[in-house]
Amino acid sequence: MGNWRKFILWFAQEHVDFRVQEFESLIKMFGLQARRLTEQTRKPFWVVEFRDTDSALLYASRSISLRAMIELYAHSHKLPEFHQRLRNHVTTNWNSLAEYFRVEASFKIVVETYNKHFSQREKVEKIESMDYLQIEGAVNLKKPEVEWWYIEFWGLDPTAVPPEPEDILFGRLVAHGQRHLIKELSLKHRKFIGNTSMDAQLSLLMANQAMVRKGDLVFDPFVGTGSLLVSAAKWGGYVLGADIDYMMVHARCRPSRITQKVREKDESIRANLQQYGCADRYMDVVVADFSNPVWHPRISFDCIITDPPYGIREATEKVEKKASAKANTRSESMVHYPSTSHYSLQSLYGDLLEFSAKHLRLGGRLVCWIPFHSEDYDPKMLPQHQHLNLVANSEQQLTGNTARRLLTYEKCFEYSPTEPLLGGITQVPTPSQDFRDRYFNNALESRQERRMRKAELREQARVEMNARGKIPTDGRSKKCDLNKARFV
Ligand SMILES: C[S@@+](CC[C@H](N)C(=O)[O-])C[C@H]1O[C@@H](n2cnc3c(N)ncnc32)[C@H](O)[C@@H]1O
Repeated sequence: MGNWRKFILWFAQEHVDFRVQEFESLIKMFGLQARRLTEQTRKPFWVVEFRDTDSALLYASRSISLRAMIELYAHSHKLPEFHQRLRNHVTTNWNSLAEYFRVEASFKIVVETYNKHFSQREKVEKIESMDYLQIEGAVNLKKPEVEWWYIEFWGLDPTAVPPEPEDILFGRLVAHGQRHLIKELSLKHRKFIGNTSMDAQLSLLMANQAMVRKGDLVFDPFVGTGSLLVSAAKWGGYVLGADIDYMMVHARCRPSRITQKVREKDESIRANLQQYGCADRYMDVVVADFSNPVWHPRISFDCIITDPPYGIREATEKVEKKASAKANTRSESMVHYPSTSHYSLQSLYGDLLEFSAKHLRLGGRLVCWIPFHSEDYDPKMLPQHQHLNLVANSEQQLTGNTARRLLTYEKCFEYSPTEPLLGGITQVPTPSQDFRDRYFNNALESRQERRMRKAELREQARVEMNARGKIPTDGRSKKCDLNKARFV
């Protein structure tokens, strides 16, 4: 057991709620042995013990939350004790550490302080306080061979900075996390984006939650512009998507960049993957309504990653079946255009969990967002399925009193098509069905009611225009005719 090594994980203080879940997912995905020694998970650093350096490097090779990983030499809550520990560590481990102090090894010392600002001069003084370290090499600030990190943590509360640092740490940088990918995959420079494209950081975190491995088959049933396919493909997954919106899937929807009037001809989800060098992992996207799955019963996915519509910036709709045609559907003799109806969040999440239970391989993961009004949230409301274990649940605050939660489910039992229906039934007690209505006006008006109310207003306007002797223009008159058909 002698090989266990301690590392400082220095995190970005962004999406703090997600880092524990990401850490646990990556540890499980790589089958690593690790022990977290820092209890307070919101601190920007954790001290973690890994079974060996290779295990630590594997974690860093995928982490989006991690900024830097530093091999720990000394950690204390008091400065004199810190210096004593650092001296002892270097002396005791000199045989293995000597190579980093040799004359040919150029070096740099980074001073990181959290929650307290120090001038350059003060930082240099902190470096000079470690003069006892016999670093022989030359300083190289741009490309040093060895990078040392000196860290002072001054608490989390900017309004109550303690008189002394709470933690002082020192060590050698061994790896950076994968945060460079956030810039590399940024939506700013992506070929095809839309109003609801998921930003690069959250997409990458989702793919880590899903434990996407090289060669996995990954599916997004509400694919939109394919942001989640990008991150999954970046980690080596073969990606497949579906969406009800033909214009979206074919990148013909209205551009979302203010500077763009029309879509470029070559915008597409495939072009996005090409842009990031993962076109070979793009399988396809299809136009399909999730409430009527088109998939073969035996198709099996390693991961399902998705951001379903909440009805705020995109409609939550499904294609209406002929059997349940609406009262105002046109008669049999007229040309048939399939109508759509509201797809309640209850039904949507019910279908999503049922689909995942059927189509995930055993151990495969479903990662999806669910919206909530903060005051409503109760863990009991989360969708449940007998074949899926909820393994992670973290919150991201949205505007006002709304939030969304990133849920990670893992398939724990094989789904048998012969089992009685009730055996695997999904429970979706979430009250967020009317999320959209409450988001906008707190009114419990259904989509259908709203449409009818607006149509009534238009009809009223038409009658008034007629009374004033005004004839509607072409486009308007077509709309008015449609209105009339609704009310005769
Ligand atoms: C939040 S967006 C997904 C955004 C996507 N993650 C991206 O990065 O662009 C939800 C998508 O679900 C689609 N959608 C809505 N109802 C659907 C249904 N019944 N079946 C399949 N897709 C649907 C919408 O067209 C929309 O593109």
